Amino acid sequence: MHKDTIVVTPLSGTPFGCTVQLPEYCKNDPAYLNDEDFKELKKAVLLHLVVVIPDQAELLPKSQYILTKQFDPSIPEPKEEAGANYGHGKEFRHDKSVLKKDGCSVKNQPQVQILGQGRFEADDQGNENGEAINLTHPSHTTFHHTPLTEEEIKEKKQTRFYRWHIDSALYDLSPPMVTTLLGIKVPPATQYQTIKYEDDGSELKLTQGATCFVSGAQAFKNLSEEDKEFVLNTTVEYAPHPYIFISPARATADGLTMVSEDKEMSFDDLPDWEELKVKKLPMVWTNPETKEHHLQVHGCCLFKLHTKKPDGSVETLDLKDARAKVHKLMRPAIAPENVLAHSWKQGDLVLFYNRGVWHSVTGEFKGLGTDGQDERRLMHQCNIASSLDPVTIRS
Ligand SMILES: [Fe+2]
Repeated sequence: MHKDTIVVTPLSGTPFGCTVQLPEYCKNDPAYLNDEDFKELKKAVLLHLVVVIPDQAELLPKSQYILTKQFDPSIPEPKEEAGANYGHGKEFRHDKSVLKKDGCSVKNQPQVQILGQGRFEADDQGNENGEAINLTHPSHTTFHHTPLTEEEIKEKKQTRFYRWHIDSALYDLSPPMVTTLLGIKVPPATQYQTIKYEDDGSELKLTQGATCFVSGAQAFKNLSEEDKEFVLNTTVEYAPHPYIFISPARATADGLTMVSEDKEMSFDDLPDWEELKVKKLPMVWTNPETKEHHLQVHGCCLFKLHTKKPDGSVETLDLKDARAKVHKLMRPAIAPENVLAHSWKQGDLVLFYNRGVWHSVTGEFKGLGTDGQDERRLMHQCNIASSLDPVTIRS
């Protein structure tokens, strides 16, 4: 007899990723998986890095929160009813933060964010904010140094990787283990857009608003032996309140890092910060399941690189050189053949190993709906700050 357990099926024709079919007993709610099945799901997330569970449009924010939290036993049981810390704490709503526009919270489950594009009334499915909301899909046009022209966007249907990143506050809080992203209202994936890589002319064609992922393990594997030694011995120091620090600066056309023009905010103008809360994270995070090394850097938020040399001395690269170095290390990993571009279907719940992939928003929605109006989309996103920083485990 067929055993009622989760079924994991690798995606075909993609560099990584899998789909998961839920067992019948959990009644289509992954928060109700038994311990054995949850263990399998966790294994799938760590092994395949991106897991898609279809048909979850009805998933309650509470279930999404419980499921997301379950991946990280280090998260302390919250004292308050409201639950543990969202991955960005509260700071991402700071007026100057580059994350400010990115969404609003579910009223009764503040760790779940509502993201998307367009206006949603208080009673629209998935709008659990308690009032009508206007969502803005992040467009590279407000973040990149030299954005695409109107003609390139509208006529040639081009887009960009908005910002390759790891979900994390990168100040005070530790990076979340897993992020869950639920497509509640998603336009039909019938429109295509193209990303042109400006340095080598290669192209990636994807459906409008696809979320892109690359594997940090693949990124590490593809490095030269010399670069592997470099990254294994390097610590990345992030700026205090990094999303506020970079707010006056603009990103490179591939979304990997910032253009260095000395536009960053001076530390004196940042909100209060403490040296002890500044994040210094290894450049390589070892996957506890596969033991593989993942190259994990937030190229836009980094501040300095500190590299331990064989003689025990430490060499430091300052902002401009650190960005250039990291860009060189990261760029090969985002080549079209390495990218998993998830094309959204309504009800997709995507779980990704935030400590093992980099991801990026893509797509232009303004005036680019099938009817020429703005496209509409509503998603729920959840991740929870860990209590432990990621580590490199050298065997
Ligand atoms: Fe993200």
